[in-house]
Amino acid sequence: MGFALAEVFAARGAEVVLIAGPVAIPTPPGNIKRINVVSAEQMFSVCKMEFPFSDLAIMAAAVADYRPASFSKNKIKRENSSLSIELEANRDIAAALGELKTSKQYLVGFALETDNEINNATKKMKTKNLDLIVLNSLRDVGAGFGFDTNKITIIDRNNIMRKFDLKSKVAVAEDIANVITEYI
Ligand code: CTP
Repeated sequence: MGFALAEVFAARGAEVVLIAGPVAIPTPPGNIKRINVVSAEQMFSVCKMEFPFSDLAIMAAAVADYRPASFSKNKIKRENSSLSIELEANRDIAAALGELKTSKQYLVGFALETDNEINNATKKMKTKNLDLIVLNSLRDVGAGFGFDTNKITIIDRNNIMRKFDLKSKVAVAEDIANVITEYI
């Protein structure tokens, strides 16, 4: 979804910075500076560096909420019938940018939900200080991960909701860009 958004915004004349996790997707054509990261920590520091120079940030990455508390350089040998991995929390990048946001900047998040979708998404928008949230429900076939399609609902700070049909991710990105353009 992030790559589709980068493509659409670049085609509309934006200078895009695409901060990408470890994916095998080519950079779309246009004025796009791609920065590759492999961890949530790296994504956090690049986002923090780039955000002050941005008019608009769209947080489309499905960032892991936790990371292993410790790493082993050596192979971990099979010893027991089960193994527990201790996890510690990753930083919430969207919330961090929400705290840094000035009145001239616009911040858009995504919410991936399975239950109480609208309530949870609205709560996320408010707690992370986002201006708009794009909800994908995992209940919708063809939405979320692993598809070239998505089905979204966009919710704003006044609880105005716009529901869209299942479409290609590029067509979804066009819808998102149209709505954002209305606001900014
Ligand atoms: N997000 C982020 N940093 C994280 C986790 C999430 O910036 N460490 C952003 C996502 O890019 C998205 C928004 O926060 O824009 C919501 O992500 P989501 O995975 O739906 O929710 P979480 O905030 O992780 O909450 P929960 O897992 O409890 O639903």
